[in-house]
Amino acid sequence: MDFDSVRNDFPTMRADPGVYLDSSCQSLRPDSVIDAVTGYYRDFPVCGGRSVHHLANEVSIRVDETREKLASFFGADSANSFVFTKNTTEAINTVAFGFGLKKGDTVVTTDSEHNSNYVPWLTLRDSVGIGMRHSESGKDGVFDIESFKSQMDRSVKLVSVSQCNNVTGCTVPVKAVAEIAYDYGAMIMVDGSQAAPHMKVDMKDSDVDFYAMSIHKMLGPSGMGVLYGKEDALENIRPRLYGGGMVGLVTYDDVDFAPIPDRFEAGLQDYAGIIGTKAALEYLENVGMENIMKHDAELLSYMFELTKDIKGMHIVGPEDPSKRCSIMSFNIDGLGAHDVAMMLDSIDGIMVRSGMHCAHPFFVSRKTEGSVRASVYLYNNRKDIERFASALGKVAEQFGE
Ligand code: ALA
Repeated sequence: MDFDSVRNDFPTMRADPGVYLDSSCQSLRPDSVIDAVTGYYRDFPVCGGRSVHHLANEVSIRVDETREKLASFFGADSANSFVFTKNTTEAINTVAFGFGLKKGDTVVTTDSEHNSNYVPWLTLRDSVGIGMRHSESGKDGVFDIESFKSQMDRSVKLVSVSQCNNVTGCTVPVKAVAEIAYDYGAMIMVDGSQAAPHMKVDMKDSDVDFYAMSIHKMLGPSGMGVLYGKEDALENIRPRLYGGGMVGLVTYDDVDFAPIPDRFEAGLQDYAGIIGTKAALEYLENVGMENIMKHDAELLSYMFELTKDIKGMHIVGPEDPSKRCSIMSFNIDGLGAHDVAMMLDSIDGIMVRSGMHCAHPFFVSRKTEGSVRASVYLYNNRKDIERFASALGKVAEQFGE
């Protein structure tokens, strides 16, 4: 695969604003996605699924095509398994508050989740009385399946874990975790926001009940996410939003809800985002998820190699890049994470994320204030990594302890 030509497909890269290493927060977009979004506004900027005129039909057809593309891209049996959301957070909330959890039911997570995989459960703990448990990570934040098993019993109704951690980059073997959940009669939801952009995800193979993802981390439009659910699992979820578009017939006395997935998509949708989603999946498919995974792994390994001797540098999570998915988190002795990030930006336009990365419990429990996070994706190259390492070396030498 010619990754130089891939890079050239991204207008942000052609404009050369610096070194973008913040793709775990939001990815850049190729021309084809931008063209798909502007094409909607230019050529058929109307509502789908309602009016029967030709422009509306065009939108409805394209919405259906995106769902079909999601099904083929993620190896799912049915396009009806895909619900459009704003982001992973909304997808997780849809399941959390629609699942019908009752007092005494338990949800099991890990100790390294994003806030969006704790806050819904904490809220349900306080309002309904559900129980919450989490597995403890092993050395360096690596998922410990024995610790996970020890949290399971028959009160567990739902297991909810991220496939790739947004701080350590560590991955969870979701198929094995799903098998354990099913042994206890529980269901499983996966937060795939950091995994789906970087690895091949096959819903039939992993056999999970629900999978949440953020399309804006995988080259798609901003504010686009998707909830996948097995059809029978989605059938049992109560919608979160009620109104037009999610019903069959409504009378003064009664409402007949639409079938899945429409039942979860009340009101007008982000049609430009949905149409851009198909373009993003097509782009990823053309490059090939296997190629992307290999490219990201090579760049991450190069990043670790070039930075290993930097003064006062401490890696958060495993020091072996092969155990991490596209993410390097670290701190420099004597410097706050935001200070490092701002210095990297001012020295050579290096864009990274800093702080707690919306993973507050991870940092609070370790009594640290956060980290710097550099993340790579398909449009990055070795030169980006060299510029990052050089700037970081200067920051550490001049300002670190
Ligand atoms: N959850 C996103 C991140 O980790 C925003 O950066």
